Formats: sequence, structure tokens, C-alpha cells
Amino acid sequence: MKPQKNIHTVFDKIIKRTDKEKFLNQNAVAVWLTGLSGSGKTTLGVALEQKLFEKGYLTQILDGDNIRSGINKNLNFTESDRLENIRRISEVTKLFINCGVIAINCFISPTDEIRDMARKIIGEKNLIEVYINTPIEVCEERDVKGLYQKARDGKIKNFTGIDSPFERPKNLDVEIFTENQTIEESAQKLFDFVISRIKK
Ligand code: ADX
Repeated sequence: MKPQKNIHTVFDKIIKRTDKEKFLNQNAVAVWLTGLSGSGKTTLGVALEQKLFEKGYLTQILDGDNIRSGINKNLNFTESDRLENIRRISEVTKLFINCGVIAINCFISPTDEIRDMARKIIGEKNLIEVYINTPIEVCEERDVKGLYQKARDGKIKNFTGIDSPFERPKNLDVEIFTENQTIEESAQKLFDFVISRIKK
């Protein structure tokens, strides 16, 4: 990408994040859920949002399938497209955080390179990295969207965990094992971890 010219940013003129956080009575953070397709990222993101909303916190869920049906509809699942997917999402996340809003991000974000880029854009201190650790056998058994079957049949290429890699995250804040836990138990663990960071 060529560097932009003739750009005059106004970051210093807009109302500050700290003032917006005061207004909302919360500290903004991005809760980044990484894990395989079908691992439970969206389910737990939705459950976390519900719990936070009930306590008066303002959140925004950013989710792979939603984002890929709008702002990122021109992207596919090659390594470079996945990188661009997460780059744009990370920039959007930064906007929400600067608005004092808690972002809940549900993206496979399969490699350390991709997650490192997200951390760099969003900022280490603004990010809680959560690994939704569900073994691929369990995801495949659940196969909620029928995509594992399609990938096994060769109808989808570059499917994460089948013919595209998923690397266990190195830089974790929390790990949630969904296999032998109810959704409520997993969501509560997530909530308990997140609440101390967002409470004023
Ligand atoms: S990421 O790798 O770029 O982070 P993202 O989270 O946005 O992926 O999108 C993942 C979702 O896209 C999956 O939950 C699934 O519904 C759908 N999908 C379609 N094709 C693929 C594929 N080849 N690999 C993974 N997910 C896919």
C-alpha cells in the first residue's frame, strides 16, 4: 500500500476517550476471542455482552460472519485476505475504544502473525486476548454451520483446521475450555475476568 499524502488528521480536536469513558462510566477495552470455527466464540461473545449490558456497560460485538457480509465482503480466506480482514477490524476496534465502548471481537484470527498485528494496532493495554479452546474434533462434531463437512468433501478450500492452519495463541490472557462446561459457566468465567478491567 502507498503511504497517503495531503492528509490532515484531527485526532486532537475530537472529544477525548477519557471523557467518553467518564460519560459511560466504564473503561474501554477490546475482548478478543480467538479460536476455531464452531469453538463458541460468537455464542460466548453474545452471552458476555448480555451479562455486561445487564450491569449497565455499553458494548459492541464485532463478529467474523457479520463483518464479512459488510465492510469486508470483498475478502476471502487466503492468508493475505485474513490478514487484511483483521487489520481493518483492528482499526474499527480502535474507533470503538476511543469512543469509550467495550468491543467484543469474535474472529478465528488463526495465527500469531495475525494476532500480533491486531495487538499492535489496538495497543497491548487495550486488549484482552481470550483463547476459546475447543478441540477440532468437538467443533467438527458440533458442525453448527455444516462447514466442516463441506471442507472434508473438498467443497470449501482453505478451511481453518482442515487445510488452513490454526496456531495456539502464545500471548494469552484467558483460556476458556468449552468442551466440558456449559455456556453459562464459560460466559461467567469470561465476565469475571473482564469486569475488573472495565469497572471505573
Ligand atoms: S479469520 O480467519 O479471517 O479470522 P473470520 O473469523 O473473519 O476468519 O471468519 C470465520 C467464519 O467464516 C467462520 O466462522 C465460518 O462461518 C466462515 N468461513 C467460510 N469459509 C471459511 C474458511 N475457509 N475458513 C474459516 N472460516 C470460514
